[in-house]
Amino acid sequence: MKVSFTLNREPVVVEVEDNATLLWTLRDKFQLTGTKYSCGIAQCGSCTVHLNGNPVRSCIMPMRTIEGKEVLTIESLSPDGDLHPLQEAWIEEQVPQCGYCQSGQIMQAAALLEKNPNPSRDEIVDHMDGVLCRCGAYNRIIRAIQKVSSKS
Ligand code: FES
Ligand code: FES
Repeated sequence: MKVSFTLNREPVVVEVEDNATLLWTLRDKFQLTGTKYSCGIAQCGSCTVHLNGNPVRSCIMPMRTIEGKEVLTIESLSPDGDLHPLQEAWIEEQVPQCGYCQSGQIMQAAALLEKNPNPSRDEIVDHMDGVLCRCGAYNRIIRAIQKVSSKS
């Protein structure tokens, strides 16, 4: 089947199998490998992207539901190579450990700050709940988000 949608602010059309998911289409058809596969069952958040501005788990998102929608991946945060404020804060706070969950963490955080530039600590914790980090970088993640929100 053919699916037309907007990917990182550009219109695209892609031919995929009927059972294709957004995650594997991004990785295999568009070589956007910043979005990671981990659990594959919507339990970890490593594959998080934005769909019409909301964070979603791309590993379970069927391509047949993507027609006409807007998808943003981690690559959209630094289109010209300039880091997004969240990515800068991530470096300053030395958030990444193994790094595997980080793309999903940053996309989840970016969705929060788009809608609420000054979230409370509780709002951050609540919003980030469900994006798992096996390295346990949760406190650093919260600090990095607070750093960006305090600048806005
Ligand atoms: S890989 Fe999608 S939620 Fe874990
Ligand atoms: S940095 Fe290793 S899983 Fe989060």
